[in-house]
Amino acid sequence: MGIGIDKYKVVQKNITRLCSSKSIVTINGKFPGPTLYAREGDTVLVRVVNHVKANVTIHWHGVRQLRTGWSDGPAYITQCPIRPGHSFLYNFTLTGQRGTLLWHAHVNWLRSTVHGAIVILPKRGVPYPFPKPDGELVLVLGEWWKSDTEAVINEALKSGLAPNVSDAHTINGHPGIVPNCSTQDVYNLPVEKGKTYLLRIINAALNEELFFKIAGHSLTVVEVDATYVKPFKTNTILIAPGQTTNVLLNADQKSGKYMLSASTYMDAPVAIDNITATATLHYTGTLASSPTILTTPPPPNATQIVNNFNNALRSLNSPKYPAKFPLKIDHSLFFTVGLGINPCPSCKAGNGSRVVASVNNVTFVMPNTALLQAHYFNIKGVFTTDFPAKPPQVFNYTGVPPANLNTTMGTKLYRLPFNSTVELVLQDTGIIAPESHPVHLHGFNFFVVGRGVGNYNPNKDPKSFNLVDPVERNTVGVPTGGWVAIRFRADNPGVWFMHCHLEVHTTWGLKMAFLVDNGKGSKESLIPPPKDLPKC
Ligand code: C2O
Repeated sequence: MGIGIDKYKVVQKNITRLCSSKSIVTINGKFPGPTLYAREGDTVLVRVVNHVKANVTIHWHGVRQLRTGWSDGPAYITQCPIRPGHSFLYNFTLTGQRGTLLWHAHVNWLRSTVHGAIVILPKRGVPYPFPKPDGELVLVLGEWWKSDTEAVINEALKSGLAPNVSDAHTINGHPGIVPNCSTQDVYNLPVEKGKTYLLRIINAALNEELFFKIAGHSLTVVEVDATYVKPFKTNTILIAPGQTTNVLLNADQKSGKYMLSASTYMDAPVAIDNITATATLHYTGTLASSPTILTTPPPPNATQIVNNFNNALRSLNSPKYPAKFPLKIDHSLFFTVGLGINPCPSCKAGNGSRVVASVNNVTFVMPNTALLQAHYFNIKGVFTTDFPAKPPQVFNYTGVPPANLNTTMGTKLYRLPFNSTVELVLQDTGIIAPESHPVHLHGFNFFVVGRGVGNYNPNKDPKSFNLVDPVERNTVGVPTGGWVAIRFRADNPGVWFMHCHLEVHTTWGLKMAFLVDNGKGSKESLIPPPKDLPKC
């Protein structure tokens, strides 16, 4: 198999968007960052050299990192950050995966500008399980703040309240047409009439789940999170931060210009960024002056579209690409995910309290030493392994919340023996407000076997689980006021972060980690740490 060697220089760059300029942290001066191209089976070596004043790490979101947890990237979970003036070589092999993923910074809110696509092509000579497209295009959806994002979140943490929403969404770095400002800053997607394209769509936004559609064209979904799905047609896709979706687009309409839109999905009563990002699908030969055929984005609370989309997602589960979900379960876990309120005497705006988030009422406290190092070198006092398998208090999760909304603080991990099987039900709570949480698990793909509204019923709901062709992914939206059930096999030793991929919720503490022990042989063990692993 091949070896891909890359250098990611972390540098400041001045960028103008929405009629104002600011200096942002980038990789190689690009926003979005460079696309990482590789093939299934390749070993990827990326040296990240930090030339800015901030700490940096890079996470290869969705890459399994089998036995190479040191290269996963979340700060203080698998590694200490790369300090200014330092570098680190990420070194991992793309085993059993092909498709679209993303990489992003994984420290504070740096991923708002430090992110890009990962394209893993199938092994040489192995075709896609769908007709070969004539062309391939990457679309990275994001968010843009006029102010510095670190300042946005630090301000919010001081006040105890929610941070400001972004000023616009972006498509490949451009907001499109924004009233009173940009009419020119529109990304153009060139297509030729009669051809078919594979669009690799990535949601790299910090805090918004997005609807994506193209005027006058339907999309055939063929892959999510670098796993093939049974193809289906849709007008609108739903894509949460951290998720990726590949669709086939037939350029089969009248030549012309067609609007693409990326707009917010949010069915909870919270502040949202209302500005729809637009781009243009441009058939070659169309005059620049010809009018753009518009599309109407769904209303932000179009939950029915989300449900239809999610229900249509089925793994391909063919002989070549079997869905290997566990049928026998060793660890049956039930985690609540949601918000809470803790005392904060210095939070004036929050009247002495602050918004937090939790999993099973534990607000995760970031350690000062990377957990993986603490685990490997047996450093005591960094974490505990008493993360609760069930909520400490049973209440009507989606109904009237309990009187005491305070959470417990702690760096608690859940320990799993190597190769044990897990069923995890993630239950949203209505504390403060029910809200959809796109939960991402590092180090694994999981199968989404069930999904529903209201409180999960362990006696009734498992009867309707999909144990035939459940979709396989690395990030799943827990429905607002509902639940999802996922299954996976703990076949990857290390410490694996799990968190809401809405960055504001991660910051508030909606995160935890699994500790997976080594197996018996060296082939089932975490490799030794690389020599240049950063120190805290
Ligand atoms: Cu894409 Cu822990 O994140």
